[in-house]
Amino acid sequence: MLPTTNYQLPTFPITILAIESSCDETSAAVCCDGKILSNVIANQTVHEQFGGVVPELASRAHLQNIVPVVHTALHIANCQLSSLDAIAFTQAPGLIGSLLVGTQFARSLSLALDKPLVAVHHMQAHVLANLIGEDKPAFPFLCLTVSGGHTQIVLCESPVRLKVIGETIDDAAGEAFDKSAKMLGLPYPGGPLIDKHAANGNPKRFKFPEPQIPGLNFSFSGLKTSILYFLKNAGESNVFKEAFLADEATRQKFITRNLDDICASIQDRIISILLNKLKKAATETGINDICLAGGVSANSGLRKAFKALGEKEGWKTFIPAFEYCTDNAAMIAITGYYKFLEKDFVGLDVSPSARAEW
Ligand code: KG4
Ligand code: ZN
Repeated sequence: MLPTTNYQLPTFPITILAIESSCDETSAAVCCDGKILSNVIANQTVHEQFGGVVPELASRAHLQNIVPVVHTALHIANCQLSSLDAIAFTQAPGLIGSLLVGTQFARSLSLALDKPLVAVHHMQAHVLANLIGEDKPAFPFLCLTVSGGHTQIVLCESPVRLKVIGETIDDAAGEAFDKSAKMLGLPYPGGPLIDKHAANGNPKRFKFPEPQIPGLNFSFSGLKTSILYFLKNAGESNVFKEAFLADEATRQKFITRNLDDICASIQDRIISILLNKLKKAATETGINDICLAGGVSANSGLRKAFKALGEKEGWKTFIPAFEYCTDNAAMIAITGYYKFLEKDFVGLDVSPSARAEW
């Protein structure tokens, strides 16, 4: 078993191989002293025909992808297995079968190379994606993390001291995008497609309600229901009224004719829900360095509105580069690096966890 407490940290440079396999992207990255040398991502297209991620197919695809992805990441970084100082991997949360592939692979490499193993929480990694690159936020900073499974406001006191101060009580922001897209007949994942259509639409054309949730928590399920009835009623009303329900042909015609405006209006409401809470969190904490993270931070409308709000409020704003917003191993590598400096290692008996606590 590898030493965990009296382990002597190697002198710099510290080279870490990281593996991410929590959902439907197989990714590997190499970082050296906190600098990303490679970040290889294999997307799984097999799920498109099913309108969502099929867990069993995801884990099978990870099994096929993991060796070539790791191999390519090492090759691009010009790095030998023998030069690695640690193996980092996503331990939680995610699809258990998918996590198992990355965890088992990392454990095997750690055993074979006799190098420490660093377990990384996926949501911490999304936040710390903001520490990749030259322009970094100063501690303490706030991060609005918006992904397919989570919506959180995180207070980050150091790379390893993070506290969730607000989160969704039902759907995540990414789910709100994906479920809205599904109702509009768009394929999975719908978030990027709503983004694309919204770019040509009028965000103020249709009004969707803003939930009144106390504190810093979010809710998106009411919005989802109002969109459902808005479409069922072909735009006549977003309140449930049997008498209004339009026939299928009328609904389809309404969606086709107004798709850009509908997407822009849905996106506008999701953005206002997110940014109103973020503004509240910044006011309450007095923190001025504010970050975005997670797959939904790739949304062009959100990025623009976030920067505009930052300018108005006098914040210093940070958003990871596009490739570090959606799931990637570079964010696991940077988190692994900071945990490595803390000697925060796990034993070879570590197992993955689908649950979200951290
Ligand atoms: O962080 P992520 O890659 O995976 C999770 O950890 O969940 O986030 C995936 C989510 C999906 O819901 C996807 O639709 C959404 O991010 N997403 C977007 C955009 N790109 C990805 N949502 C809106 N606009 C985008 N451009
Ligand atoms: Zn993610």
